[in-house]
Amino acid sequence: VPLLMTSIPAAAIDLQSHRGGRALWPENTLPAFERSLDLGVDTLELDTGVTKDGVLIIAHDRHIDANLTRRKGQWVEGVQPTWHSLTLAEVQTLDVGRIRPDTPYAKRFARQMPMDGTSVPTLAALFDLVKKRGNNNIRFNIETKIDPTNPGDSVDPETFATLLVGQVREAGLADRVTIQSFDWRTLQVVRRIAPEIATAYLTIIDPEESNVSMTGESKWTAGFDPGRHGGSLPAAIKAAGGSIWSPYHLNLTPELVKEAHGLGLKVIPWTVNDAADMKRLIGWGVDGLITDDPVTGRQVLGR
Ligand code: G3P
Ligand code: CA
Repeated sequence: VPLLMTSIPAAAIDLQSHRGGRALWPENTLPAFERSLDLGVDTLELDTGVTKDGVLIIAHDRHIDANLTRRKGQWVEGVQPTWHSLTLAEVQTLDVGRIRPDTPYAKRFARQMPMDGTSVPTLAALFDLVKKRGNNNIRFNIETKIDPTNPGDSVDPETFATLLVGQVREAGLADRVTIQSFDWRTLQVVRRIAPEIATAYLTIIDPEESNVSMTGESKWTAGFDPGRHGGSLPAAIKAAGGSIWSPYHLNLTPELVKEAHGLGLKVIPWTVNDAADMKRLIGWGVDGLITDDPVTGRQVLGR
């Protein structure tokens, strides 16, 4: 049993397999989710989008990712269409079973097992798989990939949240699902139409990519900007009605974990891949870890 300086027992820490554990298996695919289930994670983290014909699919980027996608055995090249401009039938002609070997991040995922012939799954297919396998305790952390700065690349927040909530309820999974988003508008819709479903507020503070304005307004945060709350992100999330904060892990400090816990929020950072980072965050008392590498996560947690 590892020595962890934390008030939260290692057994209670929510180990989340990011995109199904993409350091080990092709991201956001059914084979990856199955192996994460075999391994014994607590939660499957996944990204969703909506096709032209209104089907929820599991995919990360708004556009088809040329680093992950082949058509008839050939890597797709150049600027690609959005998933939202394709029908499900069109989406499912593509193969996302491996990482393009000449991308910069292929090296980082050298342990990944290629699974050729794997297509983009629907959310319904994942729910069916889990039901069939009888994984009755697994949880799902489902992200809505929607970007207020590119509204044409997706459905609107109301439509997205309504579709997702409907599918979660239909599968009888409302008590095992968290809906997460950088776009807090979606989370506000979920809170209104499905208060029984947990919501997680994603943040990144980065000069290039931030979805949070620490001093003023942000298009992403539905008016709950930290600037209105003395520059405090946890206070902004609390004011939005959130119960889970998922920050980029390098934005976190022990003081922020303490502040969030003082407000009654859980803190579940992403995407933590090195054992040393995991141990440091566990020592600060985080409630969960979202990781590309759930094998390392399990080792650190002594499972
Ligand atoms: O759970 C949060 C994390 O998944 C956000 O980052 O870009 O990998 O979806 P991303
Ligand atoms: Ca995600």
